[in-house]
Amino acid sequence: MPGSLEGTLRLLRAEGPEDAERADDPGFGVYVHWPFCAAKCPYCDFNSHVRRDTDQLRYAAALARELDYMAALAPGRTVRSVFFGGGTPSLMEPVVVETVLDAIARNWPVADDVEVTLEANPTSVEADRFAGYRTAGVNRVSLGIQALNDTDLRFLGRLHTRAEALGALKLARSVFDRISFDLIYARPGQTPQAWRRELEEACGYAADHLSLYQLTIEPDTPFAALHARGRLIVPDDDSARDLYDVTLEVTGQHGLPAYEISNHARPGEACRHNLVYWRGGEWAAVGPGAHGRLDILGERTALSTIKAPETWLAAVEAGGQGITERLVLSEAEVADEFLVMGLRLADGIDPHRYESLSGRRLKDARISDLVGYGLIERLDSGCLRATPSGFAVLNAVVADLAA
Ligand SMILES: C[S@@+](CC[C@H](N)C(=O)[O-])C[C@H]1O[C@@H](n2cnc3c(N)ncnc32)[C@H](O)[C@@H]1O
Ligand code: SF4
Repeated sequence: MPGSLEGTLRLLRAEGPEDAERADDPGFGVYVHWPFCAAKCPYCDFNSHVRRDTDQLRYAAALARELDYMAALAPGRTVRSVFFGGGTPSLMEPVVVETVLDAIARNWPVADDVEVTLEANPTSVEADRFAGYRTAGVNRVSLGIQALNDTDLRFLGRLHTRAEALGALKLARSVFDRISFDLIYARPGQTPQAWRRELEEACGYAADHLSLYQLTIEPDTPFAALHARGRLIVPDDDSARDLYDVTLEVTGQHGLPAYEISNHARPGEACRHNLVYWRGGEWAAVGPGAHGRLDILGERTALSTIKAPETWLAAVEAGGQGITERLVLSEAEVADEFLVMGLRLADGIDPHRYESLSGRRLKDARISDLVGYGLIERLDSGCLRATPSGFAVLNAVVADLAA
């Protein structure tokens, strides 16, 4: 996912070579947004559109041109991760993926151990393209399985069955070095017992990484309309908390502890691209409705592109880029992003880093209060992180800490 508001380490890069390797440098990544889906899921508010005929080669050429533009803004970085997100990137023909990866390699040095992830929907049609993606250079796949029973898959409006999902997972394991899959929990009526059983099964299939998202009712979606009419009831806060506790317990028992609120991995298998966002790294983002963060002339800059695919395509074909917003972030904004993102991580945030970013110290009294309320905790490393209760009210915790 693009991650619309990530933190920064601008001061780290203020001097010295642009791509200097530092132990605490999360590095540079490239996000590529593919905005098309075979059908729109009723819960989803991502920038995704259903189109009958898409000229994929035109989009491929436009993505490559926009990459050229971004590379001119942020030259000399070494690419450590690439993420094809959507939408449904597994609708891309492998040649499109290859064109994009070629454009990246033409513009920046690429690390030998670069992580290249592609989000895939687990229908059999899409699984047929896996080998082509592998040949193009993809080495990690993230499958949107969402549920392991057909009733809930139908409720979520998914186009695949449990059997198809498991088939795609099996195939993915034989093709890619690293795989992850997504499940959505806190579905209507889901009990902790039922979620425990499903998650136990999922952990049995999980190779190295799992993303477990609590169902969110997003505004202006069909689920929001049903919810407003009382026809879709999601677990209340206490029940959702029970489900989250089950999530932490079961994944921990299976050697896949949380390294972020919704992300679980075996040691060393965290998604490096996500860590670029959450640890305040820099990333270029291309494609319709993509959000990036680049340090341009020493200033952390948030860049967003046009959301509507056809408008974006026309803009790139006419002028080489589809940027709709380019915003230099203030020190305070950079520091707030750093808190919002970093507190989600099991490793937490370093208060000294916050100080160097914002020019302000986190107040001991506020930290102690939040620790006392059980919303954050101090780690032996000196870092601070949100507790499970703190995650539930993270924005309030950040506002309080930064005040
Ligand atoms: C942008 S989607 C792309 C993945 C792919 N198109 C798919 O659906 O499998 C990334 C993930 O976000 C999660 N997601 C999207 N909307 C959500 C919502 N309203 N609540 C919880 N999770 C959601 C799903 O688990 C999904 O796999
Ligand atoms: S969940 Fe995935 S497949 Fe469904 S609409 Fe969103 S991006 Fe498309």
